[in-house]
Amino acid sequence: MKKINIAIDGPASSGKSTVAKILAKDYGFIYTDTGAMYRSVTFMAIKHEVAFSDELGLVELIHRYPITFKQSEVGQLVFIDGEDVTLAIRKSDVTNNVSEVSAHELVRKELVKQQQTIAKDGGVVMDGRDIGTAVLPDAEVKIFLVASVVERAERRYKENQAKGIKTDFETLKTEIEKRDYIDSHREVSPLKQAEDAILIDTTGKTIAEVVTMIKAVVSQKGYL
Ligand code: CDP
Ligand code: CDP
Repeated sequence: MKKINIAIDGPASSGKSTVAKILAKDYGFIYTDTGAMYRSVTFMAIKHEVAFSDELGLVELIHRYPITFKQSEVGQLVFIDGEDVTLAIRKSDVTNNVSEVSAHELVRKELVKQQQTIAKDGGVVMDGRDIGTAVLPDAEVKIFLVASVVERAERRYKENQAKGIKTDFETLKTEIEKRDYIDSHREVSPLKQAEDAILIDTTGKTIAEVVTMIKAVVSQKGYL
């Protein structure tokens, strides 16, 4: 029997990757972080001095330097052309420019093709912004996670503190709001809840509570 796919979309810091990783582990599925792919292209643009506005230059980078994921004991690692970029793609120079890079139609076309190939046999939990609407419109389960911007900025703030990264709460909040605005207003595949996605407001909810709610949706639909 073909395994199902689970699509998880939502704005920055709504908890997508955290819950997607747990679901993938519990169900024995593959986790795919599509945001890491757009971040990788942004990282390459900075490294190879390709302008964020240079759509064809960005596409050439995607063709020349393949992005791959590897599972390890410490979690999923991201490689570009053999280089481990897992930590580098989370830095602010990438975060603050990724929405400009991801707004290009041809960049999206290339990465969406790769994402669809990863999910073609099912058994994937994929998180991003357009998974339920554009990448996997036939995904058996679609979840749209939201949370208040204050809570999302607090989550990032705590995450940075735990990693020893100094940040200012107001700056983080402004950066999240700006990225959400660009991601939801771009012409190609904007961040939007798919009509058949289940909306979960995670404000004030723990990770465990959100995972339980998604598992309930999966079993209510008659899967797993
Ligand atoms: O984890 P965080 O919410 O900070 O973002 P991410 O999932 O790593 O995604 C980084 C950026 O990539 C987003 O702000 C979008 O601009 C872009 N993205 C996208 O356009 N489509 C996706 N499917 C995933 C990410
Ligand atoms: O992938 P996305 O940007 O949507 O968010 P994330 O990276 O999964 O979550 C951002 C931070 O919020 C992480 O440090 C999570 O541990 C935390 N989080 C939380 O505190 N409560 C939740 N219900 C979900 C995530």
